[in-house]
Amino acid sequence: MSDVKNIFMQVINDRRSIRNYTDGKVSEEELRIILESARQAPSGENAQPWRFTVVKDPKNKKFLSDLCRRGSGRRFTGEFLSKQMQERFKGLKDEAKREAAYKKLTSGDVSAFVNESDVIIIVSGKKEVWDLPFDTSAAIENMLLAVTALGLGACWLVAPCIDVRDEMVLNEYFGITDEYKTISIIAIGQPSRIPGPRPRIPLEDLVFSEKFGVPYYKKENE
Ligand SMILES: Cc1cc2nc3c(=O)[nH]c(=O)nc-3n(C[C@H](O)[C@H](O)[C@H](O)COP(=O)(O)O)c2cc1C
Repeated sequence: MSDVKNIFMQVINDRRSIRNYTDGKVSEEELRIILESARQAPSGENAQPWRFTVVKDPKNKKFLSDLCRRGSGRRFTGEFLSKQMQERFKGLKDEAKREAAYKKLTSGDVSAFVNESDVIIIVSGKKEVWDLPFDTSAAIENMLLAVTALGLGACWLVAPCIDVRDEMVLNEYFGITDEYKTISIIAIGQPSRIPGPRPRIPLEDLVFSEKFGVPYYKKENE
Protein backbone atom coordinates (compact mmCIF):
# COMPACT_ATOMS: atom_id res chain seq x y z
CA MET A 1 0.00 0.00 0.00
CA SER A 2 1.11 3.54 -0.65
CA ASP A 3 1.89 5.79 2.32
CA VAL A 4 -1.37 7.72 1.88
CA LYS A 5 -3.43 4.53 1.90
CA ASN A 6 -1.55 3.29 4.96
CA ILE A 7 -2.08 6.53 6.84
CA PHE A 8 -5.73 6.68 5.80
CA MET A 9 -6.43 3.13 6.98
CA GLN A 10 -4.47 3.73 10.18
CA VAL A 11 -6.67 6.71 11.06
CA ILE A 12 -9.82 4.72 10.26
CA ASN A 13 -8.66 1.75 12.34
CA ASP A 14 -7.29 3.81 15.24
CA ARG A 15 -10.49 5.76 15.80
CA ARG A 16 -12.19 4.79 19.03
CA SER A 17 -14.92 6.27 21.19
CA ILE A 18 -12.85 7.90 23.93
CA ARG A 19 -14.53 8.34 27.30
CA ASN A 20 -11.51 9.03 29.53
CA TYR A 21 -9.49 12.22 29.28
CA THR A 22 -6.52 13.93 30.91
CA ASP A 23 -6.65 17.61 31.85
CA GLY A 24 -4.81 18.35 28.57
CA LYS A 25 -6.23 20.96 26.22
CA VAL A 26 -7.33 20.95 22.61
CA SER A 27 -5.47 23.85 20.98
CA GLU A 28 -7.28 26.47 18.90
CA GLU A 29 -5.36 25.24 15.85
CA GLU A 30 -6.53 21.67 16.44
CA LEU A 31 -10.11 22.78 17.03
CA ARG A 32 -10.10 24.70 13.79
CA ILE A 33 -8.81 21.69 11.85
CA ILE A 34 -11.59 19.56 13.39
CA LEU A 35 -14.27 22.12 12.47
CA GLU A 36 -12.80 22.63 9.00
CA SER A 37 -13.03 18.84 8.47
CA ALA A 38 -16.74 19.06 9.28
CA ARG A 39 -17.21 21.97 6.89
CA GLN A 40 -15.72 19.95 4.02
CA ALA A 41 -18.17 17.04 4.45
CA PRO A 42 -20.63 16.19 1.68
CA SER A 43 -24.30 17.17 2.07
CA GLY A 44 -27.41 16.56 0.00
CA GLU A 45 -27.74 19.36 -2.59
CA ASN A 46 -24.72 20.90 -0.84
CA ALA A 47 -27.18 22.31 1.69
CA GLN A 48 -24.59 22.43 4.51
CA PRO A 49 -27.37 22.52 7.13
CA TRP A 50 -24.97 21.96 10.05
CA ARG A 51 -24.17 24.45 12.77
CA PHE A 52 -21.62 23.87 15.52
CA THR A 53 -21.69 25.30 19.04
CA VAL A 54 -18.33 25.05 20.82
CA VAL A 55 -18.72 24.51 24.57
CA LYS A 56 -15.75 24.92 26.94
CA ASP A 57 -17.25 26.54 30.04
CA PRO A 58 -17.26 23.89 32.84
CA LYS A 59 -20.75 24.98 33.92
CA ASN A 60 -22.13 24.37 30.43
CA LYS A 61 -20.26 21.07 30.09
CA LYS A 62 -21.76 19.94 33.41
CA PHE A 63 -25.21 20.85 32.11
CA LEU A 64 -24.59 18.60 29.08
CA SER A 65 -23.22 15.83 31.28
CA ASP A 66 -26.41 15.85 33.39
CA LEU A 67 -28.55 15.71 30.22
CA CYS A 68 -26.41 12.83 28.93
CA ARG A 69 -26.93 10.87 32.14
CA ARG A 70 -30.67 11.43 31.90
CA GLY A 71 -30.89 10.51 28.21
CA SER A 72 -28.75 7.39 28.47
CA GLY A 73 -30.55 6.31 31.65
CA ARG A 74 -33.93 6.54 29.93
CA ARG A 75 -32.74 4.76 26.82
CA PHE A 76 -31.12 1.87 28.66
CA THR A 77 -34.04 1.57 31.07
CA GLY A 78 -36.23 1.20 27.96
CA GLU A 79 -33.86 -1.46 26.62
CA PHE A 80 -33.99 -3.26 29.95
CA LEU A 81 -37.78 -3.17 30.17
CA SER A 82 -38.16 -4.37 26.58
CA LYS A 83 -35.65 -7.19 27.35
CA GLN A 84 -33.29 -6.03 24.58
CA MET A 85 -30.58 -5.54 27.16
CA GLN A 86 -30.96 -9.05 28.56
CA GLU A 87 -30.65 -10.36 24.98
CA ARG A 88 -27.48 -8.32 24.45
CA PHE A 89 -25.86 -9.66 27.62
CA LYS A 90 -27.07 -13.24 27.41
CA GLY A 91 -23.52 -14.39 26.61
CA LEU A 92 -22.27 -13.03 29.94
CA LYS A 93 -22.69 -16.00 32.28
CA ASP A 94 -21.54 -14.32 35.53
CA GLU A 95 -24.80 -13.08 37.04
CA ALA A 96 -23.16 -10.52 39.33
CA LYS A 97 -21.34 -8.96 36.35
CA ARG A 98 -24.54 -8.95 34.32
CA GLU A 99 -26.41 -7.19 37.12
CA ALA A 100 -23.59 -4.65 37.49
CA ALA A 101 -23.74 -3.93 33.73
CA TYR A 102 -27.54 -3.43 33.87
CA LYS A 103 -27.16 -1.10 36.83
CA LYS A 104 -24.41 0.96 35.21
CA LEU A 105 -26.27 1.28 31.92
CA THR A 106 -29.71 2.09 33.35
CA SER A 107 -28.18 4.73 35.65
CA GLY A 108 -27.02 6.61 32.54
CA ASP A 109 -23.57 7.10 34.08
CA VAL A 110 -21.97 5.61 30.94
CA SER A 111 -22.61 8.85 29.04
CA ALA A 112 -22.00 11.32 31.86
CA PHE A 113 -18.23 11.58 31.27
CA VAL A 114 -18.52 14.43 28.79
CA ASN A 115 -17.72 17.20 31.26
CA GLU A 116 -14.27 15.61 31.68
CA SER A 117 -13.47 16.38 28.04
CA ASP A 118 -11.89 19.71 27.16
CA VAL A 119 -14.31 20.76 24.44
CA ILE A 120 -17.81 19.70 23.48
CA ILE A 121 -19.21 20.48 20.06
CA ILE A 122 -22.99 20.58 19.80
CA VAL A 123 -24.05 19.62 16.27
CA SER A 124 -27.36 21.12 15.21
CA GLY A 125 -28.84 21.68 11.78
CA LYS A 126 -31.64 23.29 9.83
CA LYS A 127 -34.82 21.26 10.30
CA GLU A 128 -36.11 22.19 6.84
CA VAL A 129 -33.26 20.34 5.12
CA TRP A 130 -34.37 16.88 4.02
CA ASP A 131 -31.04 15.15 4.41
CA LEU A 132 -30.19 16.67 7.78
CA PRO A 133 -29.36 13.42 9.67
CA PHE A 134 -27.18 12.15 6.82
CA ASP A 135 -25.43 15.48 6.29
CA THR A 136 -24.63 15.97 9.96
CA SER A 137 -23.46 12.37 10.31
CA ALA A 138 -20.98 12.88 7.46
CA ALA A 139 -19.68 16.03 9.16
CA ILE A 140 -19.40 14.26 12.51
CA GLU A 141 -17.45 11.32 11.09
CA ASN A 142 -15.05 13.76 9.41
CA MET A 143 -14.51 15.38 12.81
CA LEU A 144 -13.90 12.04 14.54
CA LEU A 145 -11.29 11.11 11.95
CA ALA A 146 -9.61 14.52 12.21
CA VAL A 147 -9.51 14.09 16.01
CA THR A 148 -7.82 10.70 15.60
CA ALA A 149 -5.31 12.03 13.07
CA LEU A 150 -4.42 14.80 15.56
CA GLY A 151 -3.78 12.24 18.32
CA LEU A 152 -6.77 13.47 20.33
CA GLY A 153 -9.81 11.46 21.46
CA ALA A 154 -13.53 11.99 20.92
CA CYS A 155 -16.89 10.39 21.50
CA TRP A 156 -20.08 10.93 19.49
CA LEU A 157 -23.14 11.08 21.76
CA VAL A 158 -26.84 11.20 21.04
CA ALA A 159 -27.60 10.80 24.75
CA PRO A 160 -28.45 14.47 25.52
CA CYS A 161 -30.85 14.87 22.59
CA ILE A 162 -32.19 11.39 21.89
CA ASP A 163 -35.37 12.30 23.77
CA VAL A 164 -37.11 15.30 22.24
CA ARG A 165 -37.87 16.69 25.73
CA ASP A 166 -34.15 16.75 26.53
CA GLU A 167 -33.40 18.26 23.13
CA MET A 168 -35.82 21.11 23.87
CA VAL A 169 -34.12 21.78 27.20
CA LEU A 170 -30.69 21.71 25.54
CA ASN A 171 -31.75 24.03 22.73
CA GLU A 172 -33.28 26.52 25.10
CA TYR A 173 -30.22 26.55 27.36
CA PHE A 174 -27.82 27.18 24.48
CA GLY A 175 -30.13 29.54 22.60
CA ILE A 176 -30.56 27.18 19.64
CA THR A 177 -33.63 28.50 17.87
CA ASP A 178 -36.67 26.63 16.62
CA GLU A 179 -35.51 26.28 13.00
CA TYR A 180 -32.70 24.03 14.21
CA LYS A 181 -32.64 20.45 15.43
CA THR A 182 -29.82 19.24 17.67
CA ILE A 183 -28.51 15.94 16.36
CA SER A 184 -25.63 14.98 18.66
CA ILE A 185 -22.74 16.27 20.70
CA ILE A 186 -19.05 15.42 20.32
CA ALA A 187 -16.80 15.35 23.39
CA ILE A 188 -13.14 15.99 22.54
CA GLY A 189 -10.00 15.92 24.66
CA GLN A 190 -6.63 14.36 25.29
CA PRO A 191 -7.24 10.63 25.87
CA SER A 192 -6.11 9.09 29.15
CA ARG A 193 -7.28 5.61 28.18
CA ILE A 194 -7.67 4.23 24.68
CA PRO A 195 -9.91 1.16 24.66
CA GLY A 196 -9.29 -1.81 22.40
CA PRO A 197 -11.37 -2.17 19.23
CA ARG A 198 -15.04 -3.10 19.67
CA PRO A 199 -16.04 -6.16 17.66
CA ARG A 200 -17.10 -5.68 14.05
CA ILE A 201 -19.26 -7.96 11.89
CA PRO A 202 -17.04 -9.57 9.22
CA LEU A 203 -17.33 -8.36 5.60
CA GLU A 204 -18.41 -11.88 4.65
CA ASP A 205 -21.67 -11.29 6.54
CA LEU A 206 -22.16 -7.70 5.42
CA VAL A 207 -21.58 -7.62 1.69
CA PHE A 208 -23.80 -9.23 -0.94
CA SER A 209 -23.33 -9.99 -4.59
CA GLU A 210 -26.09 -8.78 -6.94
CA LYS A 211 -28.81 -10.08 -4.65
CA PHE A 212 -29.34 -9.29 -0.98
CA GLY A 213 -28.23 -12.23 1.15
CA VAL A 214 -25.86 -13.77 -1.41
CA PRO A 215 -22.35 -13.38 0.08
CA TYR A 216 -19.86 -11.38 -2.01
CA TYR A 217 -16.94 -12.70 0.04
CA LYS A 218 -16.56 -16.38 0.85
CA LYS A 219 -15.82 -17.36 4.43
CA GLU A 220 -12.57 -19.23 4.96
CA ASN A 221 -13.07 -23.03 4.96
CA GLU A 222 -15.98 -22.71 2.51
C1 LIG B 1 -25.07 7.73 16.34
C2 LIG B 1 -24.20 7.38 17.51
C3 LIG B 1 -24.60 7.66 18.80
C4 LIG B 1 -23.80 7.38 19.90
N1 LIG B 1 -24.22 7.75 21.15
C5 LIG B 1 -23.45 7.50 22.22
C6 LIG B 1 -23.85 7.94 23.50
O1 LIG B 1 -24.89 8.56 23.68
N2 LIG B 1 -23.04 7.67 24.56
C7 LIG B 1 -21.85 7.00 24.40
O2 LIG B 1 -21.15 6.79 25.40
N3 LIG B 1 -21.44 6.57 23.17
C8 LIG B 1 -22.20 6.80 22.08
N4 LIG B 1 -21.79 6.39 20.83
C9 LIG B 1 -20.53 5.66 20.66
C10 LIG B 1 -20.77 4.16 20.38
O3 LIG B 1 -21.11 3.52 21.58
C11 LIG B 1 -19.49 3.55 19.76
O4 LIG B 1 -19.25 4.17 18.52
C12 LIG B 1 -19.60 2.05 19.53
O5 LIG B 1 -19.74 1.36 20.74
C13 LIG B 1 -18.39 1.48 18.78
O6 LIG B 1 -17.19 1.77 19.50
P1 LIG B 1 -16.01 2.59 18.81
O7 LIG B 1 -16.57 3.95 18.42
O8 LIG B 1 -14.93 2.71 19.86
O9 LIG B 1 -15.56 1.81 17.61
C14 LIG B 1 -22.56 6.71 19.71
C15 LIG B 1 -22.13 6.42 18.42
C16 LIG B 1 -22.93 6.76 17.32
C17 LIG B 1 -22.42 6.49 15.93
